[in-house]
Amino acid sequence: MVEVALADSFKQAMRRLAATVTVISTGDGSNRFGMTATAVTSVSTDPATLLVCVNKSAFMHAHLGVGSKMCINLLRHVHADISRAFAGQRDAWERFTVGDWASDADGIPYLSDAQANLFCEVKLAVPYATHTIFIGEVIHIRLHELVAPLIYQDGDYVAALPVIADIG
Ligand SMILES: Cc1cc2nc3c(=O)[nH]c(=O)nc-3n(C[C@H](O)[C@H](O)[C@H](O)COP(=O)(O)O)c2cc1C
Repeated sequence: MVEVALADSFKQAMRRLAATVTVISTGDGSNRFGMTATAVTSVSTDPATLLVCVNKSAFMHAHLGVGSKMCINLLRHVHADISRAFAGQRDAWERFTVGDWASDADGIPYLSDAQANLFCEVKLAVPYATHTIFIGEVIHIRLHELVAPLIYQDGDYVAALPVIADIG
């Protein structure tokens, strides 16, 4: 009973951890793989490094490992349909029909109008419980001029607004 209560309150707490929505993408030249993820965090700036937590049951998990390349696409507030498609609404092989996707010289797919595309090489893969933490060193970055993230909060998609100091 204690474990059930803890698991439920953990989920409730995570609904309050608002996060920018990303799509993690990778490819092997002929096949493309992608998945919606919010468990993405900056690790260090020198070298520029990120981590992403991927469920071992996710289709793309088998296609990531040390030495593989991936792109972390930071979604804009207009990209909720892309997030849904890459979170399982579309089958893996038809996800890239949603959104404007291109490929870099290594064959890694990237969303051309994302807020930012961070192209990484995986340096370390740390399994923990149901997930693997993939630590990726950033090789190059594309930036969109607008900062307008798609946020996932309380189980729904929202856009960020500036805080007005004297609202209270
Ligand atoms: C907003 C949102 C954030 C998500 N974040 C993660 C995440 O960080 N890591 C993860 O493994 N799955 C995450 N998921 C779930 C995957 O996107 C989902 O299971 C997806 O279908 C991947 O599995 P598949 O490719 O096997 O279908 C998230 C889903 C949503 C809607």
